[in-house]
Amino acid sequence: MTTRSDASPALIRLSDYRAPAWRVTQVELAFDLGIDTTDVTSRLHLRRDPAQQEPLRLDGEGLKLLSISLDGQPLPEGAWRYADSVLEVDGARDGSVLETRVRVQPAANTALEGLYLSGKRESGFLLTQCEAQGFRHITFFPDRPDVLASYTVTLNADRERFPVLLAGGNPDGHGELDHGRHWARFVDPHPKPSYLFALVAGRLQKIERDYVTNTGRAVKLVIWAEPDAIGRCGYAMDALERSMRWDEDTYGREYDLDVFHVVATHDFNMGAMENKGLNIFNAKYLLADADSTTDDEYRAVEAVVAHEYFHNWSGNRVTCRDWFQLSLKEGLTVFREQQFSADMNSAPLKRIEDVALLRRAQFPEDAGPLAHPVRPAQYSEINNFYTATVYEKGSELVRMVAGRLGREGFRRGMDLYFSRHDGHAATLEDFLRALGDANRVDLMPYLAWYAQAGTPRLTAHGHYDATHRTYTLTLSQHTPPTASQPHKQPLPIPVKLALFDRAGHMIPLHLAGEAGTDASALERVVVLDRAEQSFVFQQVGDAPVPSLLRGFSAPVILECDYAPADLALLLRHDVDGFNRWEAGQQLAARAFDNLRDGDATDALDAWCNALEALFAETTLDAALLADLLTPPGEIELSERERLVDPSLVHALRQQLQEHLALRIGREALYQRYEALAAHTSLELDATSQARRRLKRRVLELLARIDPWAAHSLATLQYDNAPSMTDRLAALAVLVRENAPQAAAALVHFRQRYADNPLAMDKWFSVQTQLPGELVLDRVHALEADAAFTLKNPNRVNSLFGAWARNNPDGFHRADGSGYRLLAERLGQLDAINPQVAARLATALNGWQRLEPMRRAAARAAIATLAGQAGLSRNLTEIVQSMLHD
Ligand code: TRP
Ligand code: ZN
Repeated sequence: MTTRSDASPALIRLSDYRAPAWRVTQVELAFDLGIDTTDVTSRLHLRRDPAQQEPLRLDGEGLKLLSISLDGQPLPEGAWRYADSVLEVDGARDGSVLETRVRVQPAANTALEGLYLSGKRESGFLLTQCEAQGFRHITFFPDRPDVLASYTVTLNADRERFPVLLAGGNPDGHGELDHGRHWARFVDPHPKPSYLFALVAGRLQKIERDYVTNTGRAVKLVIWAEPDAIGRCGYAMDALERSMRWDEDTYGREYDLDVFHVVATHDFNMGAMENKGLNIFNAKYLLADADSTTDDEYRAVEAVVAHEYFHNWSGNRVTCRDWFQLSLKEGLTVFREQQFSADMNSAPLKRIEDVALLRRAQFPEDAGPLAHPVRPAQYSEINNFYTATVYEKGSELVRMVAGRLGREGFRRGMDLYFSRHDGHAATLEDFLRALGDANRVDLMPYLAWYAQAGTPRLTAHGHYDATHRTYTLTLSQHTPPTASQPHKQPLPIPVKLALFDRAGHMIPLHLAGEAGTDASALERVVVLDRAEQSFVFQQVGDAPVPSLLRGFSAPVILECDYAPADLALLLRHDVDGFNRWEAGQQLAARAFDNLRDGDATDALDAWCNALEALFAETTLDAALLADLLTPPGEIELSERERLVDPSLVHALRQQLQEHLALRIGREALYQRYEALAAHTSLELDATSQARRRLKRRVLELLARIDPWAAHSLATLQYDNAPSMTDRLAALAVLVRENAPQAAAALVHFRQRYADNPLAMDKWFSVQTQLPGELVLDRVHALEADAAFTLKNPNRVNSLFGAWARNNPDGFHRADGSGYRLLAERLGQLDAINPQVAARLATALNGWQRLEPMRRAAARAAIATLAGQAGLSRNLTEIVQSMLHD
């Protein structure tokens, strides 16, 4: 049975929020676990708000009610009603205890929400996913995050089939039962919302580590996985330990239970889940070893392990009042995770990676019909709001506020936030108020960032006055209208800046009207908090080149009338690693314009020249060089176009790289490749990772101008690769270049990794990157492959997600065949897993800006899908929003 909510367009509104009329202080749950049916007994200790008169209403979806009693008395038929996913009970009083017994069907649950089976019925295990509203698929409950209760959970199951029984909280006994069954109990003393409940049961193996907090508290860390995967959990354990230590050292946050369990599953709708004391991970973000994991994936494992762990405070101890406040936990936790990753690795590279993600995933969201504020005002299906806007833009908002307070001020504010709201459900206002109160500043102006959708355009214009030796920087802002917000207000935009002289040195900043304040500062922040404002810098000897928005100090699109030579100067000299890269990105985008318009080549020349010089510099970090050599991606370049022809964008970007490769020269590329290949190793240290990254980039550039040489180098690299990073990089080059050697390598890869689902996902996704015309047939062939299934989210994303999102030229066929295939599969997938279908459907976002032929074809495909009967609320909301701009 899949749970398909009918397509009711009912909107939930932030402005309708009311405190719960009924609370639950204590929950006692008992599970009789089975693959096909599981029985759940629940005892809820109820408290009533004396100010409200509502009858007791509990959420419940698809539950079969077996029995119900109130205060020990079985309830007669007429004393309760269960309809439209709500159970209404008569006669409950303050202090009442409601006991229900329900039956659910784990193996039939393909939506992977609530209690479900991971893997095959003979060998798989049972687990739960409750965020956001999965708990109501398990038992009756006021399933909203502002109802916090303490949980006692007893699991009982067949010992042979389910030797391991886990739930969140501390263990509180276990034992044997008749008929080969056994039981285990867990008590969680920390009140939590229902979305943080979890259980796991099955044949799992573990690795353990003893951790001692800075205050001497002993914690047992346990990672659980299926037998074939347990050998790949060591890296995650190390990352977990680093995360715990970092949160204690950086934020003073300590873990608060005796045990911390982490479980890996191959069947998961998202990345991972922060259930209290029992984090559950998509295996993709937990398992790692050199033979099957790339460097990028190692860093992702570290980041996601940290993210989920950090939720223990930012999300669990202090949770969200309602789902509109989702960014309170997600934006903040992404920010904490980004800080952690920057500390563990290279800070500038991390910033580049994060901003690139923001531009690739969030800016397009903010620019299209799915645009919504970081705190949306309404939703139909909350699962559709786990978006790049709530997560990534939300993190940028925290970063701005943190920057405003400074390191110590932010820590002071966070301490107050955690202590003031510990054990409670909070709002974004609470967050800003606590940070502000601790520092005696008013942060409420930043609330506007949470309420307003769309990416602000920041325009900068500089004027140098030689007579007065002043440089006037005029900043102005404008946010384009979005679907439900035609008029936008100005936001506080912190602009971190420096001024460079023509020799590439930063000059001291003397801001008019601010005598005395750190007169010799080379870098400072000005805040634009109205539509337009000018800043006058004094004692400026020569017309400077401004370096603006350093470190990407605000999530805006900067429009500045830089000359190509200015950008080239910053690319050569800026000491802010991020802004150096950014100057190169801006210059590359201008070079792209040169190629598209076929007129000037000033930007193209400046970009190629600057990179040719940097390529020859031996002191430059190899990873930064690899990033500098990479022009903005096709999605980012498309965002700048008024009408998008994805094939043209692809072709022009290829040309851009060809120009660059020719300027650097075949010989120089070849030599650098050989030098890097000589260092081949398995190590994960920064230098080794950086070499692999640059090696890949050099090989890709070489392929633009000497395919034959690149193909044979890639084949050699594939055959001799000691790690997945080198192996997959080589395979990707062979496939993308449609090299004759690709076929044999793919056959080899498939045989070698047939038993490793995560590696097989890569086998699927790499083939979706075949060039333009060829890929559609390949997608058809791949979905017919025995290893393909619509039931596994990772597999679906590795085929359809990778194709539709990462190969725009191959997906956006002019005849619309790509759109039709995707729309058809979305319709089928929706019947299996609505969350995954709705997420995949967002790959079609942005269709309005396609050139007319593709636009018409895309619209037709989406409209056909929208007309399909019985679509889930999830998919309905996405396709309707996309159609009604
Ligand atoms: N809260 C999780 C995180 O960001 C993500 C999450 C939300 C999730 N909803 C989910 C995970 C549904 C799995 C399924 O850390
Ligand atoms: Zn999260």
